[in-house]
Amino acid sequence: MCDFEKQILLPFDYFFGLFKPKTSILGSVFSGEIESIGSSVQRFKVGDQVFGHTDMSFGTYANYKCFPENGSIALKPKTISHQEAAVIPFGGTTALHFLKKTSIQKGQKVLVFGASGAVGTAAVQLAKHFGANVTGVCSTANVDLVKSLGADKVIDYTKEDFTKNGQTYDVIFDSVNKMPVSDSLQSLKIYGTLILSAAGFSEMAQGTWVSITSSKKIKVIAGMINHTADDINFLKTLIELGELKPIIDKTYSLEQMVEAHTYVEKGHKKGNVVISL
Ligand SMILES: NC(=O)c1ccc[n+]([C@@H]2O[C@H](COP(=O)([O-])OP(=O)(O)OC[C@H]3O[C@@H](n4cnc5c(N)ncnc54)[C@H](OP(=O)(O)O)[C@@H]3O)[C@@H](O)[C@H]2O)c1
Repeated sequence: MCDFEKQILLPFDYFFGLFKPKTSILGSVFSGEIESIGSSVQRFKVGDQVFGHTDMSFGTYANYKCFPENGSIALKPKTISHQEAAVIPFGGTTALHFLKKTSIQKGQKVLVFGASGAVGTAAVQLAKHFGANVTGVCSTANVDLVKSLGADKVIDYTKEDFTKNGQTYDVIFDSVNKMPVSDSLQSLKIYGTLILSAAGFSEMAQGTWVSITSSKKIKVIAGMINHTADDINFLKTLIELGELKPIIDKTYSLEQMVEAHTYVEKGHKKGNVVISL
């Protein structure tokens, strides 16, 4: 079964602009203070400290952003800083979107591939919250980080290939699109779920193909995420309970944006990178 079979596949250029960027200001997550509100706004007041996700409207690499009150926005947890709150919605909503689609059960075995990235660090913590037995896959440098997030087991991909150790999982969550899809099938249980949160078109097509041709009754989940204010509020609650920690690798100023993107695009950040204004 394939969860994205009813979606329409469009080239990413369609979203971001065919001939030139549709939006000149990027950035989709934020944390800050409300400076003014419209006359009919009821959920928030001036001075509220809020965090959230703008999704495809982007525009958060800026000092000001106009935002609908019914968007994916919530009061910031008082226990963390704006920098820490700003990194939560990106990985948090992505991991939550996909894990919710698995109907994850207590005691199920979940493997998170790319467990040290923005989505991966959130996926490990959310899967633990849902009661799963979690295995994280990362390189040697990130083993301690992933253990500190509550992973029951950590596999160092530079020393061990998880597809060859004989273990099977209810859910395999590839958060970085670096996992060989076909090899991973042998590590899925017969009714297992494969999450390909960072898949491009070719991996999605491969996922569709394996879900049709595999002798196992596997479910493949990919595609664009969606989220609401309830999701941001859910993440806020987990932060307040101490079950979701923001992981920050580096912080840059707005003027250092090129440096920040260059670092992120190397594909080895630990958790998240913050732009501080
Ligand atoms: N479906 C959606 O709507 C949606 C929403 C949000 C994001 N995404 C996608 O998610 C991706 C970004 O995720 P992210 O920000 O979480 O990634 P990220 O933080 O950039 O990932 C970095 C991590 O990947 C690990 N990694 C790199 N190469 C690896 C390998 N060969 N094997 C295992 N781990 C490896 C690195 O660990 P080491 O340094 O230890 O190798 C590093 O900690 C993007 O492709 C984005 O398009 C999709």
